[in-house]
Amino acid sequence: MLERVLSFRRASPVTDDGDGEGDESKTRKQLYPATRFTNYMTRTFHIWPFLLIGVVLVVVTSFAYHSRDLVCISASSSGNISRLRFFGFEGLETDVGSLGVPWCRSKHDKSVEWTTKDLLEGLEEFVPIYETRPIKNNMYGMGFDHSFGLWFIARWLKPELMIESGAFKGHSTWVLRQAMPDTPIISITPRHPEKYLKKGPAYVDGNCTYFAGKDFVDFGSVDWEKVMKKHEIKDQGEVLIFFDDHQNELKRLKQALKAGFRHLVFEDNYDTGTGDHYSFRQMCDQFYVRGGGHSCFKDSDEARVRSRRKKFWEKAVDIEELCGPGEAWWGVRGQMRDDFNHSNKAITYAEHFQNSRFVESVLDVYWELPPVAGPSLTHQTRYDPARAQSPIVEDGRYGLFQRLGLSRLETSVFNGYTQMVYLQVSQEP
Ligand SMILES: C[S@@+](CC[C@H](N)C(=O)[O-])C[C@H]1O[C@@H](n2cnc3c(N)ncnc32)[C@H](O)[C@@H]1O
Repeated sequence: MLERVLSFRRASPVTDDGDGEGDESKTRKQLYPATRFTNYMTRTFHIWPFLLIGVVLVVVTSFAYHSRDLVCISASSSGNISRLRFFGFEGLETDVGSLGVPWCRSKHDKSVEWTTKDLLEGLEEFVPIYETRPIKNNMYGMGFDHSFGLWFIARWLKPELMIESGAFKGHSTWVLRQAMPDTPIISITPRHPEKYLKKGPAYVDGNCTYFAGKDFVDFGSVDWEKVMKKHEIKDQGEVLIFFDDHQNELKRLKQALKAGFRHLVFEDNYDTGTGDHYSFRQMCDQFYVRGGGHSCFKDSDEARVRSRRKKFWEKAVDIEELCGPGEAWWGVRGQMRDDFNHSNKAITYAEHFQNSRFVESVLDVYWELPPVAGPSLTHQTRYDPARAQSPIVEDGRYGLFQRLGLSRLETSVFNGYTQMVYLQVSQEP
């Protein structure tokens, strides 16, 4: 091959450095276009095979990359396609603008022990467990993200007792059981999950004490000292409490502190302007926190960003929804909601501010579960990624999403993310 290239070069009437026969410019002028083309091809013949291989490589790589996107996009709704087009494949969370993600400050800036690597390993283990869940359609209950979060936290903390408030058909009881096969559970819920069995799938646990039906007592009215004695629990720090009962979270925090509990998980940690109860996310949404504090000014950057994002994410709220009378944006339109919004009390900004200061004064750790994967992978359409932590599996990492088994799950299971939060609390004596 080299020999042929060399011989062609020798035969060329015009050399690269102009040492051809006679005056180069004249020679060129006298050549016909066809001859010039032939000469050019002949001169550059040695590089064509390499160019050809390069072009083939580029075409094949680009096709492989885009066909992967086509697979994800074709499985999605047209709304999701426009979301992806609008924000761009990598831009799903770059348009944070004046929004951002508020968080609660802990007393000593302590964080959780687990890392993203631990979460990824956990996901790999949990996906096949989740696929065996007895309640496949858990509408009004937890979806995949929070099921994973609760399972991961329970398994990491290894409590001696697990207490849940709000069981519905028993999916969360089942999740706790998967995490800790032999640990007793106390489930507080007005309607016993066995009642749902008559109509379809439900889960009733054999090692669970139910405060349900005629035995129902609200978490705040339980005699915890007596219950701890009965379960031989000497240290309330060994107990994990899971709240999914849609009650004012400030109220629940005070009740848990009074009973001496330290590890609390709240399923629905609603963002400001959304939800049916006052949440930690709402409490900690303050001007001094990045992404916190809001303006009701209609001609502001925030108003523009919000109205744009509302078109794409069902749970996003624009400035009209965010702000109540007197430009009150905190809680939900200036209200502290409780008990599935059966109660809603207007609070002043000063009260709202004091609530966050109280929370900070007892907070050792505040950890919001990140969404398990970015919206371009899960095709979730509800929460706005601009108001959520970066996902465990980031957008664009389809290979990882697939390897973890997440691509096997139906899209609907990713639609229930509401910033589940784990709190470690303690009160100064
Ligand atoms: C969203 S559902 C719980 C879903 C469940 N954790 C799951 O993942 O499938 C809320 C539940 O809280 C119950 N609930 C209502 N008031 C309650 C209270 N004061 N204490 C405990 N549970 C309550 C409701 O009856 C309902 O079963």
